[in-house]
Amino acid sequence: MTFSQFGKQLTGSSGIVDLMEDLGQALNQNPDMLFLGGGNPAHIDAFESCIAQHLTAFAQTPEQLHKLVGVYQSPRGNETCIDELVSYLKQRLDWPVRSKNIALANGSQSAFFVLINMLAGHFDSSSRGSVKKICFPMMPEYLGYSDQGIADDMFCGYRPKLALMGEHQFKYTIDFDQLTERDDIAAYCVSRPTNPTGNLITDNEMEKLSQLARQQGKPLIVDCAYGLPFPGLVYEKATLPWDDNTIYVLSLSKLGLPGVRTGIVVGNEQLITNFVAANTILSLANGNLGPMLLTELLKAQQLDYLMEKVLLPFYLAKRALMLQQLETQLQGLSYRLHKSEGAFFVWLWLPDLPISSHELYLRLKARGVLIMAGEHFFFGLDSAWQHAQQCIRLNFCQSQEVIVKAIAILADELKNLTEAKKKTAKKLGV
Ligand SMILES: Cc1ncc(COP(=O)(O)O)c(C=O)c1O
Repeated sequence: MTFSQFGKQLTGSSGIVDLMEDLGQALNQNPDMLFLGGGNPAHIDAFESCIAQHLTAFAQTPEQLHKLVGVYQSPRGNETCIDELVSYLKQRLDWPVRSKNIALANGSQSAFFVLINMLAGHFDSSSRGSVKKICFPMMPEYLGYSDQGIADDMFCGYRPKLALMGEHQFKYTIDFDQLTERDDIAAYCVSRPTNPTGNLITDNEMEKLSQLARQQGKPLIVDCAYGLPFPGLVYEKATLPWDDNTIYVLSLSKLGLPGVRTGIVVGNEQLITNFVAANTILSLANGNLGPMLLTELLKAQQLDYLMEKVLLPFYLAKRALMLQQLETQLQGLSYRLHKSEGAFFVWLWLPDLPISSHELYLRLKARGVLIMAGEHFFFGLDSAWQHAQQCIRLNFCQSQEVIVKAIAILADELKNLTEAKKKTAKKLGV
């Protein structure tokens, strides 16, 4: 069988497919694997029992049940859910939005597929002309964007500035000097908090970025999967002002609902109308479960309660455990952690790592620990950067037992590598 260019694009090797294979193996087939890999949120009983109550109510109310399984949603998405969202976004973020500013999608991943290819790619019908790109002002960025472009070479990105803090911390910031106007850029995109680093682009940086995007006449996409308005996994003060040149992409996944596949796009009316048309061609309609659950959580005013009283304390405790384990077990090793400001990842920089982060991933996998190699998250850079080979991402959603065991194995592997490096250096007399 031969495949078209589009077919080849989507069937070639892909970081996100490998990541989801690992995740599927660890979470569904081989539960003994110590999983600090993909982006699955934690299992939180209190959250799931609240969801269970709503599911029971759906099943027991014939009219609700029919809405859940027996009808296609209209193209923009479940109207009641969108109306509830309008009130919520007005009240929580003071956004001047109407229902025409919102569209639903089957997960934010597929919303991104539409947005990326709607805004960037070839701008003439010959498909031979130059390609306009999605630009990431600060790499590393979410790996899941990297294979979504249907033309070649649809992404570009810039290295961040590194601010070193104390002996074992650092933070990336946007290097605005690099963001000069370029004809080949169609739109800017950031995830906030950032997957993989847990960095929270500051309010000040966001303001500068949105001004710059507006001045250059390019939209700015803000991926809010982990942040405001929900699930609110931010550990620093942050705001998210409305800007009609910005496209906000929200998701229910990191609240604890990755299985319902619901994404939400909020933007100016023209953008949303076009998004809805493209999404309907691709998906026909969105699934009903996520929007119906969100409607109930909003109507019952449970969403903020769950975020503030259930999710945030849970993730803060996990984060504290992970940071404490790393601090204890990595003693004597050369390492720095990105300041943990949001999401549920820790980004570990190993400046003296003698192998690539991918090789470290393979060695740890062989010992039953899954992590994410950092190098895949630098896909937008046009030149090699050694730093990219020296970082790994650790998910801290798992049980205390898993985190403690996995970090012990990681520390042991790093100590072995350091010893081996020292021995080789001694042999060579350096
Ligand atoms: C930054 C970011 N954006 C988007 C997604 C896609 O999420 P979903 O399609 O489940 O909404 C993910 C998933 O891990 C993510 O980490």
